[in-house]
Amino acid sequence: MTTPVPAAASIVTDGPSVAPPPGGPEPRESDPAVSGDLRSSSPFPTSLGGQFRRHAPAYVLGTLTLGAFQLAMNRIDMKSKLAIDEVFGSTPAAAWRPASAMLLLALGAFVGRVASRWFMFNAGRDAEYELRAELLRKLHQLGAAFYRKMPAGEIMSRSTSDLQQVRMLLGFGVLNLVNVCFAFASALQIMLGVSVKLTLACLVNLPLVTLYSRTVSRGLYHRMRANQASLGRMSDVLQANLAGIRVVRSFALEQSERERFENSNRDYLHASLALARLRGSMQPTIGSVAAVGVLIFFWYGSSLLLRGPSGGGISQGAFFAFWSAFARMTWPMIAVGFALSVVQRGRAGFARLRDVFDAEIEVVDGPRRAPRHVGGALHVEHLSFDYGMRTVLDDVTFAVAPGESVAIVGRTGSGKTTLAMLLARLLPTPQGAVRIDGIDVCELPLQAVRSAIGYAQQDAFLFSTTVSRNIGFALDQPDTPAAQAKIRHAAQEAQVLQEALGLPEGFDTVVGERGVQLSGGQKQRISLARALVWEPPILVLDDPLSAVDAKTEAAILGAIERQAARRTVLLITHRIAAASRCDRIVVLDEGRIVEQGTHATLVNAGGIYAAFAEEQQMASELEAIELPSVAPPANTPQGAVAS
Ligand SMILES: Nc1ncnc2c1ncn2[C@@H]1O[C@H](COP(=O)(O)OP(=O)(O)OP(=O)(O)O)[C@@H](O)[C@H]1O
Ligand SMILES: [Mg+2]
Repeated sequence: MTTPVPAAASIVTDGPSVAPPPGGPEPRESDPAVSGDLRSSSPFPTSLGGQFRRHAPAYVLGTLTLGAFQLAMNRIDMKSKLAIDEVFGSTPAAAWRPASAMLLLALGAFVGRVASRWFMFNAGRDAEYELRAELLRKLHQLGAAFYRKMPAGEIMSRSTSDLQQVRMLLGFGVLNLVNVCFAFASALQIMLGVSVKLTLACLVNLPLVTLYSRTVSRGLYHRMRANQASLGRMSDVLQANLAGIRVVRSFALEQSERERFENSNRDYLHASLALARLRGSMQPTIGSVAAVGVLIFFWYGSSLLLRGPSGGGISQGAFFAFWSAFARMTWPMIAVGFALSVVQRGRAGFARLRDVFDAEIEVVDGPRRAPRHVGGALHVEHLSFDYGMRTVLDDVTFAVAPGESVAIVGRTGSGKTTLAMLLARLLPTPQGAVRIDGIDVCELPLQAVRSAIGYAQQDAFLFSTTVSRNIGFALDQPDTPAAQAKIRHAAQEAQVLQEALGLPEGFDTVVGERGVQLSGGQKQRISLARALVWEPPILVLDDPLSAVDAKTEAAILGAIERQAARRTVLLITHRIAAASRCDRIVVLDEGRIVEQGTHATLVNAGGIYAAFAEEQQMASELEAIELPSVAPPANTPQGAVAS
């Protein structure tokens, strides 16, 4: 079976923790542009400071236009003072000059206001887009250890709701904080110009507002975090219920699941109400405190107005300009509270995003360049692996020559899937334990390893798209006629062609969420076809026959045998019938290799494998006796290894 193998394309197939395989046809393998280093380099910053710096031009332009807007408002106040003083003075007709200047200034203020929002809100939206892209990139890099700790619902809530809060911080929050500074400066200049005493009197409550805002903003941060955390928990319960809806229904667990959801929903309600109470009280409180300033203005300001400029007071124009400037300052004073709440919510959201961004990546690219050709020789040397405290593989050593087919047989839980995942580096493979063509897989870019090893996982996962796209998932352009021909051929090999054609829209039938419209066996064979569609140098098939009947099994075994004639095949199986067709068999028991050899030698050796063979032989003989009275023969699966 040692025939040359074609260069690989990436075909890691199933499972949520697997990076999407952006592989393609042969030339890619030797193309330095796709070496692991470049692919994993991070184009967008993932810190708030980094995002600020990246969008600095937009923030600078936003700040300049905001400054222009507030300057125009300042000039409008000045002109209004002039105009009113002209109206009440000796030349009322001259008021048209400042009045028309006010009109032009108002136009300028409008443009400045719109432009500042355009620049700053867009910066926030761009940052949201970039952070979301980085989030997905990171999620693709993280491994099983991370997903054990963070459930899917939590991740969903972080990548939607928390990210929105960050966008608000980087857009609306920044704009309002900058605007507050300019508005204060612009208004204060007018107010101080009119009367220092009146200004001080009107702003006597400012320290109170500042103190209140600071205290409340701390509370807001904590309540926001609690609120987002409970939203994450609720999303998780909901997500688990949707994913497991069949289980919930079949065990009639609707009532208890509703109660469980009710608890998390209620927690979220309480957390949201606690947040809303604090947030809702902010604006009215600051507004009331600000209203005290308004009272002071009318009381003290009108007494100055009555005295008039000649008596040490102020003119009508100055009274109006002061009032206009003071009113302009009141809204930002209230908005400070709102902007602070947005900033704190954004910070709380970002802290939750950091949990993902800062999570340690277990499996990283190796320093070497991807090899131009992969022969398909596989060496496993002293491979041991544990999940935390529990040793699952213990000193496993075996070699597979290019083009050889090897079956891995063992009882359930003996470590077969763990071994397969370690070969493809879907778990943190120990250094030096797995070599492809003599090169340690830890030295290679991940993309190169996963391109070389086509791995059809045990749990057949289908995407919510068409049958055709599920099979051609790893193809660059699955809709071209050449790709369609490949997809059909792979479906034929995996014995799912007729069933796919029999679906309402054939290969274009959408399979529903996780392939809900298909049977377990159909899903398994579509997943197998996905692994066959690209022709990797090493094909690892994890229990591809567990959900098929005897006739289909025989046909699939024929296809696997044809594959084995062209590439290295590792077939993980419980079935002796399947294992016996491989060149060699490796028997795993409790994570250790207990036997190795051909079917004939192992049967003669009288060990575990021989016992499996005997058990399955007896089971099929028993079936043959019972079948006529029990079930139609074609649909009865063969017996599996007893566990
Ligand atoms: N993510 C995990 N965390 C902790 N323990 C795990 C994890 N995955 C598997 N195990 C444990 O490792 C052992 C080997 O699991 P593995 O899936 O490799 O067995 P297997 O031989 O493929 O079994 P089967 O034939 O049932 O598919 C099992 O005892 C299992 O409980
Ligand atoms: Mg398994």
